[in-house]
Amino acid sequence: MQWLLTMPNERLTKFLDQKVSELKQAGFAPHIRVLSGPNSTKSFLDGKEVLVLCANNYLGLANNPEMMQAAKDAIDKYGAGMGTGRMIMTYDIQNELESNFAKFKSSEASLCFPTGYIANLGSIWPLMAEGDTIVSEELNHASIIDGCRMSRKVDRMVYKHLDMEDLEEKLKSSQKERAKGKTMIISDAVFSMDGDICKLSEMIELAEKYDAFIFIDEAHASGVLGKTGKGTVEHFNAYGKVDVQMGTLSKAIATVGGYIAGSENLVYYLRRASRPFVFSTGFLDPATCGATMKALEIIEREPERVQNLWDNTKYFKKGLDDLGFNTGVSQTPITPVVVGPADKARELSKYLYEEENIYVQAFSYPVVPKDSARVRTIVNAHHTREQLDLALGAFERAGRKLDIL
Ligand SMILES: Cc1ncc(COP(=O)(O)O)c(C=O)c1O
Repeated sequence: MQWLLTMPNERLTKFLDQKVSELKQAGFAPHIRVLSGPNSTKSFLDGKEVLVLCANNYLGLANNPEMMQAAKDAIDKYGAGMGTGRMIMTYDIQNELESNFAKFKSSEASLCFPTGYIANLGSIWPLMAEGDTIVSEELNHASIIDGCRMSRKVDRMVYKHLDMEDLEEKLKSSQKERAKGKTMIISDAVFSMDGDICKLSEMIELAEKYDAFIFIDEAHASGVLGKTGKGTVEHFNAYGKVDVQMGTLSKAIATVGGYIAGSENLVYYLRRASRPFVFSTGFLDPATCGATMKALEIIEREPERVQNLWDNTKYFKKGLDDLGFNTGVSQTPITPVVVGPADKARELSKYLYEEENIYVQAFSYPVVPKDSARVRTIVNAHHTREQLDLALGAFERAGRKLDIL
């Protein structure tokens, strides 16, 4: 079979050679470990069984048997794929999921997208028009930044991380500059590299004072924050105060997809104005819809999963702090172990995998600021105390061996 290009374009070849060599030199994602079975507390990664301490499977639902059965039932009823876009035909199970999800989010309506990334890209810019202003948090996720960049003829400002005085300054100046456009304050609910939480109550006060509306990205908050895992609004008791709730289904809810939740009109409008919704056929297949609805049912029925997640989080974080690791400012299950140089973080991740059979991922610049490279730990609801103790012992040995402690 002929698969090599016989006359590759020289400029493209040169460009790719240079980029690949730069990436290899920077050590960016040197090797992505391969999972050959379910994502659970213990999984097979690169052929070896390890304790996984960095998955977003917060509530342990990724291989839940009830969800797997719900996916199979949906396949039996509807088939393996779709073969149609939602603007042409919409499956009843897709509508049912959105209506269930709206209830889960205490909102009037919801709209699901293929991923959280696309939910941000497909909803931020349609909401903004010429003369409007976006005031965006400094550490927002890349998909928010890209959604903002796509908002043309809109004034964009960035306020410093969690700095409410700076947010107020930006809102004041936006008021001066704009004639009658609207202003959006947009922020992650939980920041993915540090695990700290946005200051939603203060943001709401400022939004009311300066006539702005709030868009919150709950990727790491749905299923995690709030007594029953409903997310940011439940955590802050901010019912009716957040105009747009956005998130992913791929973390705590443990299927695949993204969502927007808010008013009937928000969803009505996005169904017609969101280009990914209108021009893409890949919107939540029936199996994903079935499994996702089952996940919502389980979260509702088993609130102890959220409780376990937080009990485990507190236990593990305290253990790391007591050992003397720098866990930064985390307030959630995302607990970084900050070590400084990039090669130190990579060494720590490698040592834990090779010597202790534990997997935690290393992150360095440009994903986090220079000299604050880290491994990011995330405990889940289904980790046992025994597993967490084992991990703490391993971290202690690694910390001493690599001169981190
Ligand atoms: C804060 C935040 N927003 C959006 C996304 C994108 O969601 P998805 O993975 O479903 O595309 C992520 C995923 O990592 C995230 O952490």
